[in-house]
Parts: sequence; C-alpha cells; structure tokens
Amino acid sequence: MRKYGLAIAVVLMALNDSLAQFGRRTPEQDSIFARLQRQTRADHQNMMAQLGIKALRPGVSGNPQDANAANRDENKVNSYTLPDPLVLKNGKKIKTPQDWWQKRRPEIVEDFEKEIYGRLPPHIPTVQWKVVSSKDTVIANLPIKEKILRGVVDNSSFPSIKVEIELLVATPRPTTKPVPIVLEFGFIQSPFGNTPPVMPIGLGSAGEPTWKEQLIARGWGYAIIVPSSIQADNGAGLTEGIIGLVNQGKPRKPEDWGALRAWSWGASRALDYFETDQDIDAKRVAIEGLSRYGKATVVAMAFEPRFSLAFIGSSGAGGVKILRRVFGEQVENLASSGEYHWFCGNFIKYAGPLTPSDLPVDAHELVALCAPRPVFISSGSPQVEGQWVDAKGMFLGGVYASPVYRLFGKKGLGTTQFPSLGTPLVEGDIAYRQHAGGHSTGPNWSTWIAWACRYWGECKYF
Ligand code: GCU
Repeated sequence: MRKYGLAIAVVLMALNDSLAQFGRRTPEQDSIFARLQRQTRADHQNMMAQLGIKALRPGVSGNPQDANAANRDENKVNSYTLPDPLVLKNGKKIKTPQDWWQKRRPEIVEDFEKEIYGRLPPHIPTVQWKVVSSKDTVIANLPIKEKILRGVVDNSSFPSIKVEIELLVATPRPTTKPVPIVLEFGFIQSPFGNTPPVMPIGLGSAGEPTWKEQLIARGWGYAIIVPSSIQADNGAGLTEGIIGLVNQGKPRKPEDWGALRAWSWGASRALDYFETDQDIDAKRVAIEGLSRYGKATVVAMAFEPRFSLAFIGSSGAGGVKILRRVFGEQVENLASSGEYHWFCGNFIKYAGPLTPSDLPVDAHELVALCAPRPVFISSGSPQVEGQWVDAKGMFLGGVYASPVYRLFGKKGLGTTQFPSLGTPLVEGDIAYRQHAGGHSTGPNWSTWIAWACRYWGECKYF
C-alpha cells in the first residue's frame, strides 16, 4: 500500500536511522518497535481516561477492498455546514482587517489551540544554535555553501531529556547578498539507509532537477529541519522530546501541544537562526513539507507570522482538507493511537462522543490564519497518489478561506470550480495545483518557484 510508504519510513526513521531497510528489521529492532507500540497505546489510553472517554469510533480503511473503506466517490460526499470565518461567535459579521486581527482571528486561534493542535506551553526553554560543520561544495555542479547545525535546547530544568534540533542550510556561492530560502520539514540523511532510493520523497519526477537544484539554480537557498529531532513521531515519545522536556517527563494534559505544533515551534527556532545568518534574507523564508509534514507546514504558517510563503504538500486530513467532508481519511483515523500524537488530547473527543460537525473550526480557517500571506496548496493525482489525501477537500480548504484574503484586498483562490489535473491556479494569493505524480511535492516545484518569484522578485530567465 503506497499510502503507508512514507508513514513507515517516518516511523522507522524516528526509531533509528539504521532500521530503515524495509522488511529487514533485526529481532532487536522488532522488539523496540513492539515496545513503542505498547507505550503509544498506553499513552493513548491515558489521554482517553483523562477525557473520560471509554470508546472511540474506528477510522476508515485506505484499502478500497475493505468493508470499511474510505469514501472515494464524490456522489457520496455528505452535506455539511462550515463555520463562517468572517462571522464572530456573537453572530456579527466582521468587515475590516482590523476586526479580523483584533476580534475574529483570536477566536479562531483559541479554537484551534484548545481543540485541535494544542497550546504552546508558557515557558519553553531557549535554543542555542551551533554550527557543527560548514563546507563549500556543489550540487549538480552548482556551487553551494552547506552548513550543518544543531539547535541545543536548554534542559537545565530536566536534564534527563536532551533535545538537539538538526538543521541543514545550503546557500548558493558566491553570496553577494542575502538570499531567500525554503525551509523543508524533511530528512537530512536518507530514511532508506545507505541505499540510494529509486524515487526519493520530495524530489522531482524522472528527468527533472531536484527541488534543491531548482532553488540553487534560481539563486535561492534551501534548508532542512528534521522533525523527529524536535519531537518523536509517535505517542510513546510524548514524554520525551520538547513536549516531554517541558512536561518534565510526564504525560500531556488535554490542551497541551501535539507533535505538529512542536515541529512548527522548531521551524520558528530555525527562523530565529536565519535572522542571524548573513547569507539569508530572513524576510523571504518559505516553509514546505509533505503529508504529515504538509500538516506541520500549514500549522507553522498559520502560527508564525515571519514565514513569507508556504508550500503545503498533500497535507490531507489534519492539514488543509475540510475535516467535515466524508471522503478519504477521517477524523476517526487522526484520533487513533497511530496519529493522535500530532494533535492535542482534546481532539480525540471528536471521534467519540462528539463528531467532526461539532468542531468549532474547520481546515479552511487554518488556511485563513495564514492570511494575507500567500500559500500554495499542492496535491498528487488520484491515480498515482490515491484518494486518501482528498485533493478536492484540500482545494475546498483554499476556497472557503478566500473570503478572508478578499477582506485584505487579496484574490484568494479566485474560483470555486475544481480544476482538472495539472491546471495551475496561481493567479491569487491562495494557489492550488494537483500534479500528475504521486505522494510528493516534486512535480510541483517548478510551478511553485514561478509563483514564489512573483512575491520574492528575481523572476529573471536563467
Ligand atoms: C498516513 C496518514 C496521513 C499522513 C500520512 C503521512 O497516510 O493517514 O494523515 O499524512 O500517513 O505519511 O504523513
């Protein structure tokens, strides 16, 4: 099952880089895996007990042959009513950007923090960035400066938990002026061990230059932050990482932050570093990621105003896909023991006793929190990527966020008509493109770069 590919790679990666040969785990690695699963289930149970929940509705299956297969038929989509992003809880419609900032946006932020992604703790320890190595090298014959950094988190309050954020930064050489940079939630080492993967995650389609090459050729830089170095990608790890450090090794409370917010907090710390690096123009930093990292991308963009642009890859449910829409992955899947750690504990309630239509907000309002900054929503094709991510549900996340962009005099998505495969909707400040490839941002990079240079300048032909 293709949809499990990245998930398995990410889980293995979180365990240990060397575990990564599919199907070739040693008995010792198997026992680590089993232990993590046990701890994850126990933590999930602990949160359900805190919430007074006895049972949850099961998720749908990604396998079309299964009796409980996820809906993949547009004609069977439910009808639903979404909260209006421009209407205050008291029923009054807001009409000015000022009212958005002062009245409506804080209401939406509160709902997302309390019910879905969790709150940042009031006192998060500081991060000190250290350059581990710096070298002049090339990528596809293009000269770059490549730095490896570690963001060392102050753990004096609880020394048994150590957190060091891994970051790679590459900028074109020679640097004559600070350059824009794209920060990816990703991997510095291949999750596939030492074997070069046939089609690495996030790289271009066959024959195209990789995203790194395309950015460097444009005169821009790229950076990669490793989410698992901030917070593990499983429930077992919630008593460790930055979340565990702040909680002094104790389990979370229902409103505490989940992994998506922790990863995006780490991205903000990388931005702090960029502000000190003279090779980088910290006013032109984009954030990018795929799948669960696509979810982290929109969360980072929504909560961190210093990001200039976003490239949100196949974020699906928990990202920009409308959660109330019965198509592909559902809230019940996100609330299960395999994925609940991405969110705050409270979110589990919406898989029992509450339902997704009880959510006070939906994904279009997460996109709206990014306004008026430009966002690009990316998806693969139904044939190759599958229907789990719900390409149309992500498009609708952009459609229904558009009124907020229009409040700012921006264009938003500019249409409510779902485009045919490959059609770039790039005229507005919410852009959308469903490429013809699989679960990757790869085939959308050239479109993204052409769109980004409208904002960042330097659209020269090269
Ligand atoms: C699973 C999960 C998705 C997630 C994806 C990923 O498919 O259901 O929500 O985006 O894994 O690989 O990140």
